[in-house]
Amino acid sequence: MKPLAIRDGAVLRPYTEDDAAELTAVVAANRPHLSRWLPWAATYGHQDSVDYVARTQAQLAAEDGFEGAIVVGGEIVGGAGFHAIDRLNHSTSIGYWLTEDAQGSGLMTATVTTLLDHVFEVWALHRVVIEAVVDNHRSRAIPERLGFTEEGVLREAKLVRGRYEDAALYAMLASDWKRAPRVAIGSE
Ligand SMILES: CC(C)(COP(=O)(O)OP(=O)(O)OC[C@H]1O[C@@H](n2cnc3c(N)ncnc32)[C@H](O)[C@@H]1OP(=O)(O)O)[C@@H](O)C(=O)NCCC(=O)NCCS
Repeated sequence: MKPLAIRDGAVLRPYTEDDAAELTAVVAANRPHLSRWLPWAATYGHQDSVDYVARTQAQLAAEDGFEGAIVVGGEIVGGAGFHAIDRLNHSTSIGYWLTEDAQGSGLMTATVTTLLDHVFEVWALHRVVIEAVVDNHRSRAIPERLGFTEEGVLREAKLVRGRYEDAALYAMLASDWKRAPRVAIGSE
């Protein structure tokens, strides 16, 4: 899969084996920020990166979705993509993270816009969901900004810091996305 343009100077591209060391360092440098909501980040080390990169490559080869690196100025500043594809129902789900410093400029909103264009226009799927812990307001703001419909609360669906947390479920249908007003995508 070719890199997807997110906006000026930013791309979402597949991981390569060469990314493992940088990914390990980026997660380590952002551990408190990421592990607040993503428990895997708490103990993430180099072997986890090596295994994760291999899983993303296998996923791509199996045509079961795509998880890639968000790269700005040649550096990994986040990750985003589709966890897997439900072929029976033509649906998928999106996950994402940014480094602490890369927040606040609309980069993830632009990334999810790129992912939605791809999933509906290239893969022709029908439905995309995002799940976010109810208290994760920055994460919830992304589907809300993009016009997803909040469909309900998944009770105690996420285990975060040893507690089962409720998660808000958001969905976008292909027909909604055609009509959704586009959020302006600036470069910074
Ligand atoms: C969730 C996460 C990716 C959100 O990052 P973010 O920077 O808030 O999201 P965006 O990149 O879309 O930026 C939105 C911010 O940029 C601002 N912004 C500036 N220009 C913008 C534009 N053109 N479009 C949209 N937002 C813009 C918005 O106002 C918002 O800032 P605010 O929160 O101060 O109002 C990030 O907080 C994160 O990685 N958290 C830890 C991991 C995590 O929780 N992952 C999700 C698990 S479900």
